[in-house]
Amino acid sequence: MLSPASSPTRRRGAAIRGLGMAVPATVLANHQLEELVATSDEWIVTRTGIRERRIARDGETTSALAAKAARDAIADAQLEPDEIDMILCATCTGDYLWPATACIVQDAIGSRRAAAFDISAACAGFCYGVEVAAALIESGKANNIVLIGADTLTRHVDWSDRSTCVLFGDGAAAVVLRPSEPAQGVLGSSIGADGSHHRSLFIPAGGTQSRLTPALIAARYDKLVMRGGEVFKFAVRIMGEACLNALADASLSADDVDLFIPHQANIRIINAAATRMGLPPEKVFCNLERYGNTSAASVPIALFEAAAMGRIKDGDIIVLVGFGAGLTWGANVIRWERTPTSDEAVL
Ligand code: ACO
Repeated sequence: MLSPASSPTRRRGAAIRGLGMAVPATVLANHQLEELVATSDEWIVTRTGIRERRIARDGETTSALAAKAARDAIADAQLEPDEIDMILCATCTGDYLWPATACIVQDAIGSRRAAAFDISAACAGFCYGVEVAAALIESGKANNIVLIGADTLTRHVDWSDRSTCVLFGDGAAAVVLRPSEPAQGVLGSSIGADGSHHRSLFIPAGGTQSRLTPALIAARYDKLVMRGGEVFKFAVRIMGEACLNALADASLSADDVDLFIPHQANIRIINAAATRMGLPPEKVFCNLERYGNTSAASVPIALFEAAAMGRIKDGDIIVLVGFGAGLTWGANVIRWERTPTSDEAVL
């Protein structure tokens, strides 16, 4: 396990020094979905909070969105691509079954020195990645890590299933993590999984369990299926629990939180989790009305926009939390310091 920020053994921290984001230009509004399935703008807004989402066009791949977000994050961190040690891409909709989408991004952005691999933890993938990247930086194994959350889940949506097709959108966002003073950056994390619910949200065919055949494609077995109510109840419980565990790992409490940046799946899930943690609405960041659930991209897109909107200032304690297929969950507590307080090169 990592040494928490409060531990005297922790010699250096890992902080976010660069941010980037990329979403497709194509917007699909709720009223357009009314033409596809028996739904209404009113139902979608009331039950989910979503008003529109972005849809990747043909040829607009997960790696293309991820590469744009990564390039912008590297430039924002004032680094060159060949200074990156590692690229982690959280995704469940990679360009291929293999190789990893992170490798395609590495080639696209020219980070020739970087090791590259994907993290498959669905919508919790970015929070898993923060834990992994922080551990590698704190241990001295890496200095400059690009962590991306990227998904094009609409490629796997059944557009005739009204209970799922209204929920998802496409996008990517990336951060650069670098060494920091021990009291800055990632202070604590909590990640976990309950694989006994792996069929609560999954794509039935296309892997080694069920290879795709024309009959399975015709029956839409290559599209995602979800037990929405089950996932809803799990999410409300686990979001609060994961955040409190991550705060305990950082020796902090919910009273210390300045901004809560949750996975943008459903406004009712977000509100219930915030209430459980005793957080007032002004401490909760939401942008799901414009993007829907962008899976692994959801938390970093929200982080990018919260920072761009001036909702986070240096010294703030922010909490990120995600949950998703697996079922998986993850939360991170971060003390936000965009500007290093010491020479990062000597850390
Ligand atoms: N438009 C109109 N009616 C609908 C729609 C729709 N789009 N979808 C479902 N309904 C109907 C149902 O058929 C049902 O009708 P019935 O009562 O006649 O049977 C009624 O609305 C209520 O359905 P519920 O499923 O009970 O609706 P609920 O309020 O639970 O909302 C929802 C469904 C939005 C899917 C909710 O359960 C949810 O958000 N679950 C969590 C999903 C989630 O977060 N998934 C992402 C995980 S992250 C990842 O890994 C990708």
